[in-house]
This record gives sequence, C-alpha cells and structure tokens, in this order.
Amino acid sequence: MLLCVNIDHVATLRQARRGIEPDPVMVATLAILGGADGITVHLREDRRHIQDRDLKILREVVPNELNLEMAATKEMIGIAIRTKPDLVTLVPEKRLELTTEGGLEVKSHKKTLQEAIRRIHGIGIPVSLFINPQKDALEIAKQTGADMVEIHTGMYADAKSRNKEKELTRVVSAVKTALDLEFFVNAGHGLNYFNVSQVASIQGIRGLYIGHSIISRAVFIGMERAVREMNKLIKEALRE
Ligand code: PXP
Repeated sequence: MLLCVNIDHVATLRQARRGIEPDPVMVATLAILGGADGITVHLREDRRHIQDRDLKILREVVPNELNLEMAATKEMIGIAIRTKPDLVTLVPEKRLELTTEGGLEVKSHKKTLQEAIRRIHGIGIPVSLFINPQKDALEIAKQTGADMVEIHTGMYADAKSRNKEKELTRVVSAVKTALDLEFFVNAGHGLNYFNVSQVASIQGIRGLYIGHSIISRAVFIGMERAVREMNKLIKEALRE
C-alpha cells in the first residue's frame, strides 16, 4: 500500500509571512527520504498555500508520484496539461472551506468531470475522483471515465465512539464497491497515527493520501521520522 504525503500545510506556514520558508519543495525531498511513495499538492484557485512555482519545481524534483489535487476548472486543467503530474485528483473546492469538506457531487457535475477527464487523459495522465463512501456516487463516478477513486475517510476520522465503527463499515463497503467497478482505489482525509491502522488493513486499497497529521508530527520529530512512523503503522496493519 502506497503512502502519499500531502505537503500543503508546509506552504500554509510559509504563506503566513509570504516569505520563502519553510519551503514545501525541501519538505517533499525529506518525505521521500523518509519513504513516501508520492507527494500531493492541492493548487487552489485562491493560492492560499501551494503556489504555481511550487508545482513547477516539484515536477522537476519528485522522482515518484506527483499527485495534483485540483478543481475541475478551465484554469486548473490548463495547468495540469502544462505541468504533467503523474496523477490528477479532482476535488470539489469552496472558497471559504478550511480544507476539502466532502467528496465530489458527481451526479450534478458529471458532464464537467467527463470533459475534464477527457482532456487530462488526452496527455496520458490518469485521473482520480475524491468520492464520499457511497455506492451511488461510485457508480456515477464510473460513468465519467475516471481511472481511480479516493474514498473520503473524513467522516470516519471525525466520528466519535459507536459511530466510528459505522463510518468504518461505510469505508469498507465503498472500497469493495469501487473494486467491483474495477477502479484503482485510494483513501484519504483526516487519517492520523491513531486511526490509520483500521483503514490500512482494508484489502485492495492502492494508496493512502495523508497530510495534516504527518506535517503536525514533523514539527516535533522531523519530516523523515514522521513519514517513517506512519509507513510502519500502515505496513503493520497490512500484515495483521
Ligand atoms: N485527500 C484529499 C482529496 C484531500 O483534499 C486532503 C486534504 O487536502 C487529503 C487527502 C489529506 O487530508 P489530511 O490533511 O486530513 O490528511
């Protein structure tokens, strides 16, 4: 199972002063030294964290999977076509949200998604869709031509006590449905050192996409170690 590390929050810290440090590019290199299988950045319309310059340099220095998270807009599709990341993950984007709040509204945006995927496929880049753990959403996602889905684990991560088990069951069945639909299946959002094992032990998941908890731990123990510790939990969960 791959561990792909989202480094947006390093850019958030840099943008607090609009200076040059900490540089997300340097952190990407440390994450890879710590065993990350890929780097994810979300280039937002408002450029609140990752900047165009970051994406450009990351494309030159990331030796494994560079995943560009983005909204399916004309501007972002143009950037993806010029930059050529290894994977594009389409997400909904709201100006006022603190982080991506939910999966894509695939039903109402089916045409827009189909067109975005067609254009990105045109230069040979696979496309993943960020989807809530719901059967109907996955079935519609299949009709868009996407190659992969990333199952939204945020509701599982946020759930308390008895609801946690219920939300985990929803993630487990969504992974199964997505595999039956012949998607490559990723998962992410809200995963941390305390809740990752349950998701990592689900059979068939290709990769976990994790940001905030790794960057938060890296503040105390350094990036390489934070990535190594997360990877160890994932590998142990798979073995059990
Ligand atoms: N996957 C997607 C689609 C996201 O939007 C995010 C947040 O940027 C993540 C994964 C990572 O979430 P977190 O920072 O909570 O680990």
